[in-house]
Order: sequence, then structure tokens, then C-alpha cells
Amino acid sequence: MRMTDIIEKKRDGGVLSTEEIRFMVKGYTDGSIPDYQMSAMLMAILLKGMDRRETLDLTMAMVDSGETLDLSRINGVKADKHSTGGVGDKTSLILCPMVAAQGVKIAKMSGRGLGHTGGTIDKLESFPGFNTGISEETFINNVNEFGIAIAGQTADLDPADKKMYALRDVTGTVPSIPLIVSSIMSKKLAAGADVIVLDVKSGSGSFMKTEEAAHELAENLTAVGKMAGKKTVAVITDMDEPLGNAVGNALEVKEAIAVLKGEVKGELLELCLTLGSCILTEAGFAANDAEARKMLLCGIEDGTALKKLAELVEGQKGDPKAVYDTSMLPEAKVKFEAISKRSGYVKHISAADVGLVSMHLGGGRATKESEIDLSVGVMLHKKVGDFVEVGESLGTIHASDLAKAEEAARLLENCYTLVPEKVEKPKFIKGIVR
Ligand code: URA
Repeated sequence: MRMTDIIEKKRDGGVLSTEEIRFMVKGYTDGSIPDYQMSAMLMAILLKGMDRRETLDLTMAMVDSGETLDLSRINGVKADKHSTGGVGDKTSLILCPMVAAQGVKIAKMSGRGLGHTGGTIDKLESFPGFNTGISEETFINNVNEFGIAIAGQTADLDPADKKMYALRDVTGTVPSIPLIVSSIMSKKLAAGADVIVLDVKSGSGSFMKTEEAAHELAENLTAVGKMAGKKTVAVITDMDEPLGNAVGNALEVKEAIAVLKGEVKGELLELCLTLGSCILTEAGFAANDAEARKMLLCGIEDGTALKKLAELVEGQKGDPKAVYDTSMLPEAKVKFEAISKRSGYVKHISAADVGLVSMHLGGGRATKESEIDLSVGVMLHKKVGDFVEVGESLGTIHASDLAKAEEAARLLENCYTLVPEKVEKPKFIKGIVR
């Protein structure tokens, strides 16, 4: 088999065979197929597409490129969650303990953030001592003992995706549905859970700028998950403004804790109840969504969801006292209000630009090697639909020094679109694909 022939076949709109797809993924992972050939192939896939069978074959070839986690030593139903990525997305920190408190096992591999803000792993490191680099043995033992573990993705899991994603990033081939589906689902399938719930973001702050595109992605993700024998559900949610109010690692942890304590409600709680209900019903723990929501809310009211977060932290050598006393979490030296010079109703907040404000403050990574400052970020006080008076604060900037804070405040104002007429908040949950 020759890679040149396979590239030409896809270039001309052909359907690749299972053997051709496996040859290409194996060759690219072991280095026998060079970047320039894989780049041409990725572009051909982006332009000509792939059918469901090809997408599944690509996904499974990527799963088989490395090790897979064997969760068979964990008793009970194992669930995993993935988000296509958004600004201020601290959902896993809330959802995972909420669901684990109901008895579904959470064995989650998570990534670090690149760009905008940190990933779940970075956020968890806000807890003093928290270890995300636990061994597979500890990971399995913790899920069995506490019902929950969240670890950094190991290098051995899905090496094809690591290489292909890095190449897509620099060849203009990220926004291709078969490539996104195989990238996400290969990681999820390699991580071994029985139930997979996907939060597919739609809007200006996400990959999928329109609701139609997000729907198409959700349909493809769930179809491939099911073809691979997993219970898979996708929830399509709005990402036209940052999720919740906090953007920045420790700030997001504090907001997550506030939700678990029942102090913060709104879209963030709604999202966790929706995703959580999907998990509980698919796992057979609840007969329907209404029952599942009742169970999840009960876990917040009686404190068991918060206690589960403390167990997660303790199980991974963090200090669980920080869950109950958030003053132990990293705290920025400077707090500075971003005062609005304009008035009007908030029509839009550019989530991507708010992410860049956090990055300017040191809360995100420019390169994989960058150190991030867990304490910095923005606490938004105004969201879409709110009215802003001249002189009111749009948000509090948490910074390491005053110069950075002042610049961040200026940048934050530019993230807001204000209009004179009243603004209707768009629907937050845009659909569920089961
Ligand atoms: N998230 C991933 O892991 N891969 C993609 O291709 C897009 C989003």
C-alpha cells in the first residue's frame, strides 16, 4: 500500500477502506508516513469528508495507536464527560462529583488547557498538593474507593491524536467533522467508560459557530459512540458568552464550589443537571430526567456532592479543607474593577476575547511548556441581557500587578457589545442528541 495512492483516492472523493485508514494512522504514528503526506491527507478529508463507516474506522485506528485503559477492575457503571471547549467551562468540577455522589463511577482523563484558560487538570491543581499525575493503579483504586478520579491524560493513550491534532492546528484542518469526531471519540473510547456524555458548544466562543453545525457534530459524535458500543449522549449548549461568571483557574474552582454548595444557580447549574440527568438515565440509575434531576439536586442540598469533591481532592493528595475554606485556594494580589464607560443592555460578550484577557493576565498557556498563574482571571458581573450603567463594574480583574490589571480592564470593556434596546437571553440548552 502507498500513502500517495490513498491521498489521491480521498482527493478525488473516494471512500477509503478500513485497511487504508489503518495503514495511514499506523504509519503516521510510527513515523514512516511524514508530516507533509499526512497534511495533504487531512486537507483532502476536510474538503471531501468521510462517511460514518470511514469515521468509525479512523476513530478505532486512533484508539489502537496506543494503550487503552482497562476499567474492568472497577465495579459498577463508569461514566466520562467531554466538552468541545469553552471559556469559563468548569462543568466537570461540578458535574463529576454530583454524579459520583449518586453512585455512578467517574473515571476521567482530562487535558491541560492550551490558549485561553487552563483545562480541568490545571483547575484541580488549584487545590494545594493535588496530584493529577497519579498512576493507573491509584486511578483505579481511587475510583473503587471514592467513586471518582480525574487524572491527566497519559502519553501512551491515543498517540495518533496527539500527532494529528498538532498537525491540524498548523495546517488549517481543525474544523472538519470527521476529524473532530475521531479526535474526541478516540480519546473517550481509549479511556474505557461505559457511558459518554458530550457537551457540544455552539456559538462565537466555540468551534461550531452555528447551531446547525453543532447539531451535525453532535449527531456524528453520538453515532460513532453507539457504533463503538457505548451509550453516548450529546447536549448542545450556548457558547456565545463565557459560561458562568468566573474565567481563570482558581476563580472557576471557587465558582464550582459555590454551585455545589447550592449558592450559585443559573445556566451553570442547569448545564450540570442536564448532563448529569443524561448520565444517570443512561447508566440506569434513574427512570427519567425528572427523577435524575431530583436526585442530583438532593445531592447538593444534603452536601453529598460537595463531600464527593472533597474525597476526590483527598484521594489525589490535595488538601480537602480547601473545599470548605476557599481562602486556601490561590488568591491574586490585585483586584481591580473594570468600569464601563458606556451604558446599555449587554447583547454579546466575546467569550474568545474574555479568554484572551485571562491569558494576558497569565491564566492561559501560549505554548505547552508555559507556566500558568492559577490565581488570576476575571469575575464577570454583567452577562447577556443585563443592563449596564456608566460607571458600573463589568467585572473584577484578578491580577498579579496593577499594570496588567489596568490593561485587562481596558480589554474586557472591548469584549462587551452594548445596545440601547432590551435583549432577550438566548436559550442556553439548544438540544439533546441521544
Ligand atoms: N477537541 C478535541 O479533542 N479534538 C478536536 O478535534 C476538537 C476538539
